[in-house]
Amino acid sequence: MTKPATHAPLLDVRNLAKSFAGLNAVDGMSIALARGELTGLIGPNGAGKTTLFNLIAGSLKPDAGSIRLGGTDLTAIGPERRLRAGLGRTFQIPRPFGEMTVLENVLTAVQNQTGERMFANLYAFSRIAAEERRSVEKARAILDFLSLSRLENEPARVLSGGQRKLLELARVMITDPQVILLDEPAAGVNPALLDLIIDRIAEINRRGMTILLIEHNMEMIQRLCARVVVMAQGKLLAEGAPADIARDAGVVGAYLGDAA
Ligand SMILES: Nc1ncnc2c1ncn2[C@@H]1O[C@H](COP(=O)(O)OP(=O)(O)O)[C@@H](O)[C@H]1O
Ligand SMILES: [Mg+2]
Repeated sequence: MTKPATHAPLLDVRNLAKSFAGLNAVDGMSIALARGELTGLIGPNGAGKTTLFNLIAGSLKPDAGSIRLGGTDLTAIGPERRLRAGLGRTFQIPRPFGEMTVLENVLTAVQNQTGERMFANLYAFSRIAAEERRSVEKARAILDFLSLSRLENEPARVLSGGQRKLLELARVMITDPQVILLDEPAAGVNPALLDLIIDRIAEINRRGMTILLIEHNMEMIQRLCARVVVMAQGKLLAEGAPADIARDAGVVGAYLGDAA
């Protein structure tokens, strides 16, 4: 009998491998996310977490392995098409366009999704204008959701580290992804913004987005994630409930090795 579709993982990453000049940064890593899951991805510095995200999002080509989203194999296609297929990601180090406004930074994340193709057709102009208006409304609603509204006309360069992380979230939210890869969305964020970021990630997940969250802050992982996956030296080291993972001798050892 065929399994019901709801049991198939939404994101199914199998045996991914990537080496840089002989260093196996990602070394046969598999991870599967069910629709609606919010899963943590932890591991010592250099474990290969960001490289794994680059492979899943398509900014790096894997040496081996496959990436499937909703049953479709995305392994051979580039990052823009993966984004259009519903795979969004944020960057560990946000690089907003400093001279553009906050609102413009959000809008650039959706530009070219519809516009370019229709430019040839004069009759499409009014449709483009209507779509742009909708995009602006949508961007404003997202900025409001992330408490960035009062900064919408400020150049992005004035944003604090935490506000830049929120802008990263806004830029991915406007693309309506099915799956979001969040790379350390709270690193370097001051405590006042941390609660807001945690709360907003939880709400994004409640709205139906499936999330894979790289984060070093274990309190944040425990508050947000029912399941956590641990990577070390490019491989899956452990997987389970955050409280169990925190007690796992192999996991503790991997972190101690990192500190040594
Ligand atoms: N573009 C690259 N070229 C060479 N080495 C890289 C590159 N990207 C990552 N690495 C190396 O791969 C390993 C994993 O890095 P990374 O994925 O950034 O780890 P993490 O995000 O878990 O801290 C590290 O040893 C890092 O130095
Ligand atoms: Mg990283």
